[in-house]
Amino acid sequence: MNLDIVILAAGKGTRMNSTIPKVLHRLGGDSMLGHVVEAATNLGSGKIHIVVGYGADQIKVEFSASKHNGNLHWATQEQQLGTGHAVMQAMPGIDTEDKENLILVLYGDVPLTNSATLKKLLKQSNPNTLSILTLITEKPTGLGRIVRDDTGAISAIVEEKDASEEQKEIKEINTGIMAIPAVKLSKWLDSLGNTNAQGEYYLTDIVAMAAEEGCAISAMAVTEESEVQGVNDKAQLARLERQFQMNNADELLKAGVLLRDPARIDIRGDLAAGSDVEIDINVIFEGKVKLGQGVRIGANVIIKDSSIADNVQILPGTNIDGAEIGEGSSVGPYARIRPGTILKENTKIGNFVETKNAVIGRGSKASHLAYIGDAELGENVNIGAGTIFCNYDGVNKHKTIIGNNVFVGSNSVLVAPVTLADNTFVAAGSSINSDVPSDSLAVGRAKQRNIPGWKRPSKK
Ligand code: UD1
Ligand code: MG
Repeated sequence: MNLDIVILAAGKGTRMNSTIPKVLHRLGGDSMLGHVVEAATNLGSGKIHIVVGYGADQIKVEFSASKHNGNLHWATQEQQLGTGHAVMQAMPGIDTEDKENLILVLYGDVPLTNSATLKKLLKQSNPNTLSILTLITEKPTGLGRIVRDDTGAISAIVEEKDASEEQKEIKEINTGIMAIPAVKLSKWLDSLGNTNAQGEYYLTDIVAMAAEEGCAISAMAVTEESEVQGVNDKAQLARLERQFQMNNADELLKAGVLLRDPARIDIRGDLAAGSDVEIDINVIFEGKVKLGQGVRIGANVIIKDSSIADNVQILPGTNIDGAEIGEGSSVGPYARIRPGTILKENTKIGNFVETKNAVIGRGSKASHLAYIGDAELGENVNIGAGTIFCNYDGVNKHKTIIGNNVFVGSNSVLVAPVTLADNTFVAAGSSINSDVPSDSLAVGRAKQRNIPGWKRPSKK
């Protein structure tokens, strides 16, 4: 069996009230179309065709950076004349002579279909059968109904706008996802008409054609409704986002992660978590995040593209992006850890500390109010409150190198490029702009003078 996957994504999505094409709206950090492409890719085989129309260029640009881009074949539907017409646009890229070829139709605005469900549908499909993914629902309004004859065999799909009152009572609906023999589809599409309530070329009309010529038709019902839920407006998108996040939360809980409230976590990417991880409320994970064993994360934390080693504690209000946090470290509350930060084991970054492009050695601490940028710090360094690494001269960035066992007194300014060797001590309030040799004290401030009997200015 050979497979072609056709994803329909040409619609504008008028009800989204947006200038962005519907399928580019994001859910769980990825576009809806991105989720569908991911599911299609996870099938492991098959050529992926995407039919685009409204905002075609914007969609292609968005996917040019995607890891799947090499496997995507684009077809354009200039005018949106219906789902059948949309599939026609992809046919020139599909081998319709090959009797073993099957075409799987997916919708770009149905983002949560599991590849496992699609695999199941394909497993019961063969190049002589038309297979339809269906849903039994109490709310069939607006959807295509599955019409069955007296023997229970599927005889047609009728759209809401074309359905009789009796047909509208049918609770078995078409999800839109179908696996269709390519040779037959090509022939059926040739005789598709548009004399119906919407004046559209309905893909669903091929079902009656199949029934008429005695082609086997099978239905597989999904149990999880969100898997086949389409998005037409932002309310539906928001509800599906929540569903998606609840699914993520359930998986984490099952894997042994303790979530203080499964309704208050958002994963916008891939999260891998070790055992005995605890996550408090309102935590957002973006991109690729790895949490080791025993990691504890406080409330209102955002972590993006970072790796957090075993037994790290992230305290509330902390923002971590593009960083590696070493085993046993403690970060926050209210710390901002920016890209290129590497904290070695047992470091401590406290409140209102910002780091960027900084490697901080084992056991080192910056407990309060500091900026550490473009720096390398050795082990057991103590950065006092209010210390600023002046890494930028307005044009270029420069580096600060600090050895082991260095103590930087509060409110100091380290003007890069500068090196503080091992065991140096910087007096509080210093401005350091030349290198400090090892085992010495650097005092970079005017000596204090006390003027006895000095009088404050008086009001004139
Ligand atoms: C379609 C099905 C209906 C099914 C429902 C499930 C048809 C005729 N009807 O109806 O049986 O219950 O989906 O959600 O197939 N698209 C194009 N080009 C077009 C028209 C649509 O690319 O010319 C794309 C849309 O962007 C969307 C998908 O096809 O991704 C479905 O289109 P939509 O207009 O939502 O179809 P429905 O009327 O909902
Ligand atoms: Mg729809």
